Amino acid sequence: MATKCIRFSNISQQFNLRKMSIDIGGMRLRYKNKDDTFLEKHLVSKEPFLQFKSWFEEACSKKEILEPNAMCLATSKDGFPSARFVLCKGYGKDGFKFFTNYGSRKAKEMDENPNVAATFYWEFLNRSVRIEGHVEKLSEEESTKYFHSRPVPSQVAATASYQSTPIESRDVLCEREKVLEAEYIIPQKEVPKPSYWGGYIIRPRAIEFWQGQSDRLHDRIKFRKSAAGEVPDGKILHEGEDGWVYERLSP
Ligand SMILES: Cc1cc2nc3c(=O)[nH]c(=O)nc-3n(C[C@H](O)[C@H](O)[C@H](O)COP(=O)(O)O)c2cc1C
Repeated sequence: MATKCIRFSNISQQFNLRKMSIDIGGMRLRYKNKDDTFLEKHLVSKEPFLQFKSWFEEACSKKEILEPNAMCLATSKDGFPSARFVLCKGYGKDGFKFFTNYGSRKAKEMDENPNVAATFYWEFLNRSVRIEGHVEKLSEEESTKYFHSRPVPSQVAATASYQSTPIESRDVLCEREKVLEAEYIIPQKEVPKPSYWGGYIIRPRAIEFWQGQSDRLHDRIKFRKSAAGEVPDGKILHEGEDGWVYERLSP
């Protein structure tokens, strides 16, 4: 689908210096889809993973989308959510993979509550994909394999950083980096994967596909795992494949 967006120009910023409150209420994109078709026409599959593959590959083919694999990952502990971007490093029928530091804030939150949500947003295509599920850690073997596939400076940086811990200055990191370089890079030794670094897989129970439309009646198709005893009526709830059902949601 060829998509063109124009930014609404009547952005009147109301700046109140005393309150430091800037009104950007007029800021929005006007979606201008050349082909205003319903999302059903773009559904290539009755299960969500092939559908994701189709949209993801299209996003990857657009030079305007620099990091199509960036996803916003939301975790939650004690009822307080937090969100940050991570890079998705693999996807398939088993789920969506990403890598991080096992001592980071997100990791601690996932230790306590493995339920997460993740969202992709491809502005150029006016598309978003929304995932809900639970995480499991990847095997040490898979994490190690991926760790060594990364550029060496990334391996060093991951080892040098105790992610999310407060530090006095950037110099602390640079010092650790120097020590690691002397230990591994100069003698050309492999940087070992630290025990505090590895991957997760999100095993989804729901995946929603959102397509922005120029009339702002956007399309939303949500796949979810069928509940026990649930019978699709073919009108509101449709039978999918592989234990999935899907429904259209109001925008
Ligand atoms: C586009 C983008 C991609 C990122 N990818 C990752 C990633 O794959 N893994 C990671 O640990 N942090 C990644 N980060 C950094 C995280 O957003 C975050 O700063 C870091 O993981 C610490 O988060 P936490 O304190 O909530 O654990 C990325 C940031 C951006 C903006």
